[in-house]
Amino acid sequence: MRRRGRDGDSGDSGGDIGRAEGEASPGRQGRAQHSWLPWLLCTLLLAPLLAYVSVPFLIRLFPSLLTKFVYLNFLAFPFFADFRQPELLVNNTINLYLTTEPGVTVGIWAQHSWLPWLLRTLLLAPLLAYVSVPFLIRLFPSLLTKFVYLNFLAFPFFADFRQPELLVNNTINLYLTTEPGVTVGIWHTVPSSRGAEAKGKDQRWYEEALADDHPVIIYLHGNGGTRAASHRVQFLKVSDGLAMSPTGYGDSTGHPSENGFTTDVLALYDWAKARSGNSTILFWGHSLGTGIATNAARKLQEERGIQVGAVVLESPYTNIRDAGANIHITLIYRQFPGFEYLILDSMARAGMFFPSDENVKVLSCPLLILHAEDDGVLPPKLGRQLYETAREAYKDKSKVKFVTFPKKLGLGHDYISFNPELPALVK
Ligand SMILES: *[C@@H]1O[C@H](CO)[C@@H](O)[C@H](O)[C@H]1NC(C)=O
Ligand SMILES: *[C@@H]1O[C@H](CO)[C@@H](O)[C@H](O)[C@H]1NC(C)=O
Ligand SMILES: *[C@@H]1O[C@H](CO)[C@@H](O)[C@H](O)[C@H]1NC(C)=O
Repeated sequence: MRRRGRDGDSGDSGGDIGRAEGEASPGRQGRAQHSWLPWLLCTLLLAPLLAYVSVPFLIRLFPSLLTKFVYLNFLAFPFFADFRQPELLVNNTINLYLTTEPGVTVGIWAQHSWLPWLLRTLLLAPLLAYVSVPFLIRLFPSLLTKFVYLNFLAFPFFADFRQPELLVNNTINLYLTTEPGVTVGIWHTVPSSRGAEAKGKDQRWYEEALADDHPVIIYLHGNGGTRAASHRVQFLKVSDGLAMSPTGYGDSTGHPSENGFTTDVLALYDWAKARSGNSTILFWGHSLGTGIATNAARKLQEERGIQVGAVVLESPYTNIRDAGANIHITLIYRQFPGFEYLILDSMARAGMFFPSDENVKVLSCPLLILHAEDDGVLPPKLGRQLYETAREAYKDKSKVKFVTFPKKLGLGHDYISFNPELPALVK
C-alpha cells in the first residue's frame, strides 16, 4: 500500500513532470513561431493607420459612403424595439404608416392626447378666420381695398415690362408721371396694319402714330395682375391702344385708390390728346376698370366740358357695392349676419364707390356695354342694369348699346377680347 502510495506519489510527481513537460511544449512552439509575431503586431498597428489614411480618399471617390456616417441609420438602436407596440414605451400612443411617395412608407407614432387637439385646431382655425374677417373689415375698412384691388397679386410674376414686344408686337413701354410721386407704366401698341413700319421705331415715332386718325383706346384693366396678364395682352393684340397699369399695379408707383386712378387716366388722356391730332380718344374699361373709365369720363365732362370719343365697358358692374354683393367670392358671406353692415358698407368707408350707375347718367358720349352671359365673376344682370340706367338717362338713346355674348362662346369674365368679331362690333 505504502509503496503503491509511494508509487502513487511518484506517479503523481511523474504526472507533474509530465504536465510540466506538456506545458513546456507550447513554449517550444512559441519560440518556433517568433516569425509571425512581428507580422501580427505590424498588421495590428498598420491596419488602423491604413484605414485612417484611406478613409478621406475613399470618401472623395465614393461620396455616398459619407451618407452612412452622417445618417448612421444602420445603427438602429434600440435593437428589437417593437414599433407596432409603442404603448410598451409611452402611453396614449398609436403606430401608423404613411406612404409619402410610391415605394416609401414612413412609420409615425402619434399621441392620442394631442391628436384630437390637432384635429380640433385644424377645423377651428378656418372657422375662426371665416368669422373674424367681416369684423376685421368693419374695424379696418382699408383691409377691404386689398381684396378689391388685389394689386399685390402682380401676376404674371417676372414679366419684363420694358420688353412688351416679347408678348405683343408693335408695342413700346413708356412711363408717365401722373401726379407728384406717381409714375405709371404704359404699353403703347399701334395697329397691326402699321406693324411692318413699327419695327425698331422709338417712342417719338409711336407718339406721332397717335395722330394717324386711328381711334386711340385708353385701356383700363381690372383688379389683380398687371398689364402683362394674358387676356390684357390679347386685348392689345386685337384692339391696340394705350394699356396702363394704374397706380399701385405692376411697375407703376404709388398706392391704389379710386381718386388716384382717375388722376392717372386724366393725365394719360391729356398726354394722348396733345399728340393725337384729330384721332378720337376712347376709354375702354374691363371689370374693375369700367368704374375707373366712367369716373374719368364723368370728371372730364363735368369739370372741363370734354366728351371722350366713346366709353366701352367690358364685363362691368353698376357700382362697387353692388359688385361686392354679387361677385362669387362673397357668396360664402351672403348669409352671414350683418353682411351688408360689416362688408358692403365698408366699401364706402374704405373710399371705394366706382359709381358707374351714377356716372352714366351724366355722360353723353357713345356708350357700349359688353357682357358675356357666362360671366362667372360679375353676373350679366349688372351690365344690363347699367345699360338700362344709361338708356333711361341719355337724351340720344341710340348712343347707348348693350351687347351680350352667348354662353356657348365661353368668353366668361375675361375673354370678350378673344372674340374675333370684337373689332367689327366696336365700330
Ligand atoms: C402608462 O400609464 C400608467 C398609469 O398612469 C403607468 O403606470 C405606466 O407606467 C405608464 N406606462 C408607460 C409606458 O409610461
Ligand atoms: C410678332 O410677329 C411675328 C411675325 O408676324 C410673329 O412670328 C411673332 O409670333 C409675333 N410675336 C408676338 C409676341 O406675337
Ligand atoms: C384736323 O382736322 C381739321 C379739319 O378737318 C384739319 O384742318 C386739320 O388739319 C386736322 N389736323 C390734323 C393734325 O390732322
